[in-house]
Amino acid sequence: MKDTYSDGKAGNDSISTAPVLELMNVSKEYRKGTRRLLALKDLSLTVNGGEFVTILGQSGCGKTTLLHMIAGLEEPTAGEIRVGGKPIRGPGRDRGLVFQEPRLFPWATVAHNISLGLPDRGRDQRKLEELLELVGLEDFAQAYPKELSGGMAQRAALARALAGSPRILLLDEPLGALDAVTRLRMQVQLMRIWQENSLTVVAVTHDIDEAIVLSTRIVILSPRPGTVKRVIPVELPYPRNRTAPEFNIYRQELLGALE
Ligand SMILES: Nc1ncnc2c1ncn2[C@@H]1O[C@H](COP(=O)(O)OP(=O)(O)OP(=O)(O)O)[C@@H](O)[C@H]1O
Ligand SMILES: [Mg+2]
Repeated sequence: MKDTYSDGKAGNDSISTAPVLELMNVSKEYRKGTRRLLALKDLSLTVNGGEFVTILGQSGCGKTTLLHMIAGLEEPTAGEIRVGGKPIRGPGRDRGLVFQEPRLFPWATVAHNISLGLPDRGRDQRKLEELLELVGLEDFAQAYPKELSGGMAQRAALARALAGSPRILLLDEPLGALDAVTRLRMQVQLMRIWQENSLTVVAVTHDIDEAIVLSTRIVILSPRPGTVKRVIPVELPYPRNRTAPEFNIYRQELLGALE
C-alpha cells in the first residue's frame, strides 16, 4: 500500500467554498408517549463541496441520528438542513447512505442488491461490474447476503450506495466490521472513490487514525445531547503517513478532545 507523506495531493481537487450541506441550529428529540429523549441539540455545521468530514463522538451522542436526518429519513425537531442551498424534503438520489448495519435485501443476490441502487433499474452491467470490483466482491456477485461475512456485507452496502452516483456520501461506520488489513485497504479505496468522483463525504467512525487518514475536517460531538464540541481541520497532504510526527500530534489532540 502506498502511504507516503511528502508530495501527496492536497486532497480532493474539487474542494470549493460553496456549501453543499448546511445544518442550522438542528435539534432532534425522540418522543414516545410521555417519554422524551433529546438526541441532538442546536447543532450547526457547514460542509463545503468536496470535503471529507468525519464525525467522532461517544456511543449514543446522536451520530446515526444526524446522518439519518441528512439522508432525509428523520426530520429535525428544530432547525433546518439544506443541501445545495435548498431545505431537504425527504430522501433523494443526491445523497447516498451506508447504514451502520448493512441492511441488504436478503432475497436478492449481491449483484441484485447493488443494481437496485443503479438509476436505470439495473441494466447498467458495466457499472455493476465496476462496483463489484471496487469493493472486491466480483466472486460473490451471485451470493445471497446470508452467505456473506459481516465485512463483505458492509462492502456490498457501500457499492449499493455508490451505485446511485450521489453528490453526498453518508457513511455510518462503514468499515466497522472489517479486519485490520481489509480496513486499511478499504480506507485507501474510499479515499480514491472520494477524490475521483468529487464527492462530499460525511462519515462516522470510532477509529481516530481512520479519521485522520481520511478527513479534511473532524467534528467532535459532545455526549448526548450531541452538539458540536470541536472542529479540527486536518492540514496534512494526502496520502497521509500514520508514522509521521505530525500525525501523532493530531492523534494526541483528538484523544484529548474526546475525553
Ligand atoms: N428511533 C429512535 N427512537 C427513539 N430513540 C432513538 C431512536 N434512534 C436513536 N434514539 C436515541 O437517540 C440517541 C442517539 O442515538 P444514535 O443512534 O444517533 O447514537 P450514535 O451516536 O449513533 O451511537 P453509536 O455510536 O452507538 O452508534 C440514543 O440515546 C438513542 O437511544
Ligand atoms: Mg450510530
